[in-house]
Amino acid sequence: MTKTVQKELSDHVQEQVSDWLQRFPKDQKQSAVLGGLHAIQHEYGYLPVDQMDALANKLEMPAIAVYEVASFYSMFELEPVGKHTIAVCTNLSCMLRGGEEMLGYLESKLDIKCGQSTADGKYYLKQEEECLAGCCGAPMMQVNHVYYENLTEAKVDEILDTLD
Ligand code: FES
Repeated sequence: MTKTVQKELSDHVQEQVSDWLQRFPKDQKQSAVLGGLHAIQHEYGYLPVDQMDALANKLEMPAIAVYEVASFYSMFELEPVGKHTIAVCTNLSCMLRGGEEMLGYLESKLDIKCGQSTADGKYYLKQEEECLAGCCGAPMMQVNHVYYENLTEAKVDEILDTLD
């Protein structure tokens, strides 16, 4: 179930941002923007605009500058997505060892295309990823940022079966 978006940052996010702010000079508050965005995404599963606006306010920076950071990095989601994020690498090493076939298998198994979430909101198949620096275990994927390597269709099935 999607969490209702609040206009203000939660106490937990405020604490996280304050923690980041202690690590930077007082006149460089914007340096905490990545940490703040991570905390918001951890709480909501994506970055609601109201929350990015609240972060901009807290860091005394223009909201557009927060949106720019959020839209630059592929680890941030700007729309609600499925609970479990799956990112299959299809870059060179993985492609040579069956990464595209693994992606095709997942698309078929979950009945979605890259960039989509399943209707039940359980899985999100992230847009095709560039090299995730796990080439020696190609083909590989990340599920909720955990690396799984030397994939086979059976291994993909096993991994998905462990997710609630
Ligand atoms: S090419 Fe897939 S992890 Fe490097």
